[in-house]
Amino acid sequence: MRSRARTDAIDPVALRAQLLKLEPAAVGRPNSIRIVRAPGRVNLIGEYTDFNSGYVLPVAIDREVRIAYLATDDRQVVLHRLDTRERGAFDLDHLPERQGRWLDYAVGTAWAMTEAGLPLRGLRGVIGSNLPTGAGLSSSAAIELAVAHALLAEPVDAPVPMTLARLAQRAENAFVGVQSGLMDQFAVACGQPASALLLDCRSLDWRAVSLPLDEMTLVVCHSGQARRLAGSEYNVRRAQCDTAVAVLAGRDPSVQSLRDVTPELLDRAAAEGWLEPVVLRRATHVVHENQRVTDTIGALEARDMTTLGRLFAASHASLRDLFEVSSPALDALVEIAVATPGVVAARMTGAGFGGCTVNLVRPDAVERLRGAVESRYAMQTGFTPRVFPVMPTVGAGLMTAT
Ligand code: GLA
Repeated sequence: MRSRARTDAIDPVALRAQLLKLEPAAVGRPNSIRIVRAPGRVNLIGEYTDFNSGYVLPVAIDREVRIAYLATDDRQVVLHRLDTRERGAFDLDHLPERQGRWLDYAVGTAWAMTEAGLPLRGLRGVIGSNLPTGAGLSSSAAIELAVAHALLAEPVDAPVPMTLARLAQRAENAFVGVQSGLMDQFAVACGQPASALLLDCRSLDWRAVSLPLDEMTLVVCHSGQARRLAGSEYNVRRAQCDTAVAVLAGRDPSVQSLRDVTPELLDRAAAEGWLEPVVLRRATHVVHENQRVTDTIGALEARDMTTLGRLFAASHASLRDLFEVSSPALDALVEIAVATPGVVAARMTGAGFGGCTVNLVRPDAVERLRGAVESRYAMQTGFTPRVFPVMPTVGAGLMTAT
């Protein structure tokens, strides 16, 4: 049942049928219906490093958003969300203001693309998804990238994925109002099968890092706790990082971002009291988290599971104690996972404040982890968890074979 429900939400045949039902204009033109897709993402390591010009290591996952649509010449965009049965509409020539709802991601994307001079078309579409929303798996970035592909007047001439990712990030920053970095939109746009993606957020150079999937399965555990305060607390964290940079740049002019701060400079800042304690904690997390990304690449390439476990544990502790974005529910999920034989590594993933953990699990231990979480977590926290293996997948785009 579980896997059936999961597939139906984005099944191309079902999506087309929904479009024909909800938008009668499509009935006479069934051959013109297109489908775009955009995956979610889970970040392996490198949390809150993206807007500090550091490194991230996300994976695009096989939970995704799909839009079946008919392109139109009337400049009107109409989208039906199948999961909530909501309808959203706007005019490409008179974009509405931000409304504080999901449609903002679509309007913001249209706005950023228009500003960049890309030719867009109207559309009638239905959105299906098997990506949980509000779970820290980038469902908003997936809507942005799916909408971006659907709005393109000439889908075959789509800009390179990184260009679309940066436009979607602009939508998020300047229209939606969350000062997020590039990681989510990058991962959703540039995903690669069987791999994680190493992005240098300063140069924007990136490469696929092959994952030893014969030895470990990626498992997401959803805490069942919706992410709260995520937007406002996120912006506070970003401001604290900016404060650290401003102070440290005053002492060492080579510092342009936390990426440039060495552990030695941080030690001096601590010894001499240059930074307020809370700002020092935030900076300490970022500086060491960047190093953990580099170390994780080495451990993956060496198939060194012990080191992977240690790095994930250190990242989680740092997010909990120094960056202060974990929650008791996420901590409980990690504790249960690391106590389960066959679990190689576990940590919270994404912005935190609820949401999910990411786990590297020996293939024969996935059901053991599910059993451990299901039997202990709800009793401990009062939330209902969900445990699901995920596979790395290719980034957003038009589906050719439907
Ligand atoms: C959110 C943001 C990302 C990144 C993570 C934390 O997912 O959108 O840019 O900062 O939080 O690593």
